[in-house]
Amino acid sequence: MKKISVLLAVSLLMVQGCSWFEPSITIVFTHNTNGFLEDCGCSGHKYGGLHRRSAVFTTVAENDPEALYLDAGDMISTYSKFPLKDQYVTEIMKRLRYTAIGVGDQEFVNGFQFYEDNFKNLPMISSNMPDAGKSGEIIKRKNVQIAIISLLNPAFTTSLADSIQFSLDIIPPKIVLKQLIEKFKLEKIPNIVLLSQLGLEKDKELASEFPELSLIISGHDQDPKDSLWVVNETPIVQAGPDGERVGILEGKFLSGKYVIKHFNRILLDSTILADSLIFAKIRRYHAETDSTFSHVETKILPDNPSKTECMSCHQDVYDRWLKTPHAHAWETLVQAGIEKDPDCQPCHSTNYGETVGFRATNFTMKWATVNCQQCHTVHVEPGAKICVVTASKNTEKDCATCHTPHRSPNFNYKTYLQKVH
Ligand code: HEC
Ligand code: HEC
Ligand code: HEC
Ligand code: HEC
Repeated sequence: MKKISVLLAVSLLMVQGCSWFEPSITIVFTHNTNGFLEDCGCSGHKYGGLHRRSAVFTTVAENDPEALYLDAGDMISTYSKFPLKDQYVTEIMKRLRYTAIGVGDQEFVNGFQFYEDNFKNLPMISSNMPDAGKSGEIIKRKNVQIAIISLLNPAFTTSLADSIQFSLDIIPPKIVLKQLIEKFKLEKIPNIVLLSQLGLEKDKELASEFPELSLIISGHDQDPKDSLWVVNETPIVQAGPDGERVGILEGKFLSGKYVIKHFNRILLDSTILADSLIFAKIRRYHAETDSTFSHVETKILPDNPSKTECMSCHQDVYDRWLKTPHAHAWETLVQAGIEKDPDCQPCHSTNYGETVGFRATNFTMKWATVNCQQCHTVHVEPGAKICVVTASKNTEKDCATCHTPHRSPNFNYKTYLQKVH
């Protein structure tokens, strides 16, 4: 009897024993920053900010100097509207202590040249797109060797402009993954972390097909409810969209799998003290955008009736409009100290970017806030007693250009329409 229990204890030690001595590896991860330098102070996007992310990284580094910092891509904006902001995002990312960053489809929204110019000093990994970065990175932490790879789904690049799409050379992910796994086997590296831009469903498929994967950080589409899945003992993790959170994993690499002990997703809210240097850089961006805008635009605008001119004939409507949130939409930005941000201006002003519309704070203030001409285009002959309405922009689709699901989650065309004035 005694003999048996000793034997049992020894064999248990052999199975579990090694894990007691394996070091714990901290993995900090992000993805889907989507060009958000900071939170906006509105209900659509209250959290996040690279100044807060940086502060969290510093705290982790103080506790574990050997932590890994990984990003699974989609760092810059969804559309090619904000190249200057995207440039700032990449510059700030360079100052954060990233170990490796995967390439997302969004990285190419401003074209391949922009990618080459702005991503070159970042630790980009791009296993199935040889032009965009290294095919992998082997790193060593506490004597554990870990291979970091990154895969991009070619199907996701179809939303890019045709000329950009066709300039990208992407190898099918599975072909590359098979080759890399063979290579790591030969090099005796048992641990593989995938920074994925394949989509969650594909990640699950890969995890079941390739047991060699130790951990998948799942970028691109983000599940609103769950953040951890385990397939074939391989954990798949997400931190959520728009850089609102930082994921922190505590765990050990055991027999080629990352076994998680703790998983935390830190919400970057106002309780997190900002990194003041990064914050200063974000402020510099605000100053710079506004000045570039005013340099481009020097010509005098054609005259057009302003909201006060409508008032002279439509006093009753004007008074009613004045009590609606549209009349205060600009004030909302001023109160947040963010009225110079072209990320906010388009929806809190009238006819943004058009000749008869808002463009910059120093000369088109007549078009600040959402006024009459956002919804009615009107012509008034000098001396006439009546106006000619030349266009109406009141359809559900017109409203939805600003009332997006993201910015206006409770939008309902019928009930909202009754409240315009
Ligand atoms: C010189 C006076 C005058 C000015 C200025 C003026 N309007 Fe009018 N507008 C009228 C009159 C008169 C009517 C027709 C009667 C009515 O519906 O009140 C009218 C009608 C309208 C209508 C309804 C058209 C329809 O098909 O029912 C809209 C919408 C309108 N105006 C919007 C505006 C807006 C927006 C402005 C400012 C950009 C403006 N108007 C400026 C006098 C004016
Ligand atoms: C140019 C962008 C823009 C367009 C177009 C637009 N809105 Fe708005 N709307 C806003 C903004 C910004 C606010 C919030 C203003 C604030 O509180 O600062 C708002 C607020 C509102 C509100 C108030 C909601 C509340 O919480 O009480 C209503 C109602 C509304 N809009 C209706 C409409 C309707 C209906 C249309 C289409 C006919 C429309 N809007 C088109 C930007 C827009
Ligand atoms: C795509 C259009 C759009 C953009 C871009 C946008 N907003 Fe708004 N914002 C809206 C709309 C629409 C509402 C009204 C939502 C509602 O009441 O349904 C709103 C409401 C707000 C409100 C008040 C109500 C709330 O949600 O708390 C604040 C504050 C605000 N926005 C700030 C900002 C800031 C700051 C930015 C830039 C970072 C920004 N918005 C960018 C469309 C936009
Ligand atoms: C968010 C969109 C929106 C804004 C902003 C807006 N309107 Fe309207 N307006 C409408 C809609 C919708 C109607 C009703 C359907 C139509 O005529 O297209 C309407 C109707 C009107 C009418 C004719 C019916 C009436 O109520 O007398 C006038 C006049 C008018 N608007 C003037 C104005 C003026 C003046 C302002 C600015 C002070 C203004 N509107 C701002 C959407 C808007």
